[in-house]
Amino acid sequence: MPWDTIQLNDGREIPSLGFGTWKMGNGDGPITQVDQAISVGFSHIDTAQLYKNEAEAGIAIRQSGLERKEIWITTKYSGTDGLDIQTSIRNSLKYVRLRVSRALRLP
Ligand SMILES: NC(=O)c1ccc[n+]([C@@H]2O[C@H](COP(=O)([O-])OP(=O)(O)OC[C@H]3O[C@@H](n4cnc5c(N)ncnc54)[C@H](OP(=O)(O)O)[C@@H]3O)[C@@H](O)[C@H]2O)c1
Repeated sequence: MPWDTIQLNDGREIPSLGFGTWKMGNGDGPITQVDQAISVGFSHIDTAQLYKNEAEAGIAIRQSGLERKEIWITTKYSGTDGLDIQTSIRNSLKYVRLRVSRALRLP
């Protein structure tokens, strides 16, 4: 990992630099760009519901072959889909291809 990490209150280490996907749109473009980011050493990808490219980030991450513990994914509830918060967050986890049980437990 080329950059330092920051320890969070729960003990987990977040890579201090993330690759941001805002304004990349969706489709093949962000898949390629996230793939390139990972290939040059980024281990933290920053997306959001608002950016409309959570699924693209997920595809690139899956294609990278990295193990789950080797990559940090940030996404954000944006309140843009009209869904209740829990459903919206579950959808985000599905799009970035994380299992709910491995990410956070929702009631
Ligand atoms: N976690 C959060 O809450 C949060 C909030 C906001 C943003 N973010 C993340 O932070 C990222 C950046 O946000 P921002 O607000 O700083 O975006 P921004 O204002 O659009 O800045 C993007 C920066 O990237 C540079 N850039 C764009 N294309 C480039 C290229 N082809 N080659 C070299 N440099 C290039 C721009 O340079 P120029 O100025 O020269 O064009 C600019 O300095 C976003 O993608 C998002 O993922 C996260």
